[in-house]
Amino acid sequence: MRDTFNREIKYLRISLTELCNLRCRYCMPENGICKKSHDEMMTYEEIIQAVKIASRLGVSKIRLTGGEPLVKSGIVSLVSKIKEIDGIDEVCITTNGTLLTKYARELKNAGLDRLNISLDTLNPEKFRYITRVGKLNDTLKGIDVALNEGFKKVKINTVLIGGFNDDEIVDLANLTMTKPLDVRFIELMPMYDSGDFGKEAFISSDIVIDKINEYYKNKMNADDMIFPVEADNGSVAKKYKIKGALGNVGLISAVSNSFCSKCNRIRLTADGKLKPCLHSNQEILIKGLNEKEMEMKFKEAILLKPEKHDVLSYESRSHADRNMNQIGG
Ligand code: GTP
Ligand code: 5AD
Ligand code: SF4
Repeated sequence: MRDTFNREIKYLRISLTELCNLRCRYCMPENGICKKSHDEMMTYEEIIQAVKIASRLGVSKIRLTGGEPLVKSGIVSLVSKIKEIDGIDEVCITTNGTLLTKYARELKNAGLDRLNISLDTLNPEKFRYITRVGKLNDTLKGIDVALNEGFKKVKINTVLIGGFNDDEIVDLANLTMTKPLDVRFIELMPMYDSGDFGKEAFISSDIVIDKINEYYKNKMNADDMIFPVEADNGSVAKKYKIKGALGNVGLISAVSNSFCSKCNRIRLTADGKLKPCLHSNQEILIKGLNEKEMEMKFKEAILLKPEKHDVLSYESRSHADRNMNQIGG
């Protein structure tokens, strides 16, 4: 279905839970969140009903997010049920990777197509700092397991944080030289509560290409070691490749260069609200509705999609009255 700005909505992001086994500083408050009651959250039956409706309206790609989707029990069978729905071509998960050693094989067998895994640093102490509780090795092992299971594509999501990981850009990008991974650098989006980051933390993704070029120039006097390649269909990332690399480097310029004009997505929160736009506080409750009512709400949400969100900056933050763990990115 097309929205009022003639954008075709094909991609539904479903947050399964606000809970997470990590506590990334830009994503959720230190003490986690107030656990909502079971009755407020979407059941798997309601999620399946929502996906069936979405697919009738033209959605063909589903991404399961969180919080951390793999802490949710029954996720494997949910994936296989969503895969069976007519019109759904691709089912993907965005995860912190820590539970993949347990779930990657089962998810592959259930028909999961792709995994995006968050990784902001290669330094164990810094990993502990940014996630407040995590162990780097758990995520690194998860990435390797995902690669070994032969998923169509494994992408790494790195949130760029000035003064925290801008000194690791080349090391992270160089993962694409030795592993068939895409490493995507994401501009930090100033949410309702993006932790204790000052203005200097919000840096533009442009510096990624400069840093990689500078590194290779100093190392081997090479020009244009990184060059643009065609973006994935419907993806918000600009894609580049380092010469000789197995994977690609991506830039998600969510702050400096919004991609609203090409937006093809709609979101469903774990507490049953459709969000027409990531950065708007507009929400449409679908929990508890029968199929017909839910379908009407889906159409309403698509037609309510704003043309674009307001400019994001440290001072002028997202209008979504939620943190990222309550939206799923
Ligand atoms: P692919 O399907 O592999 O292209 O993944 P994706 O980029 O759609 O999903 P992922 O969950 O890996 O998100 C990567 C980053 O992009 C996260 O930081 C998201 O918050 C951000 N992102 C995803 N969709 C949007 C969007 O519509 N607007 C903005 N501003 N950011 C988005
Ligand atoms: N800005 C940008 N990306 C974010 N993510 C979580 N919070 C933010 C934020 N404030 C990313 C996570 C994950 C994806 C779902 O969103 O790193 O990869
Ligand atoms: Fe958890 Fe992902 Fe948020 Fe980190 S970014 S706290 S891993 S949901």
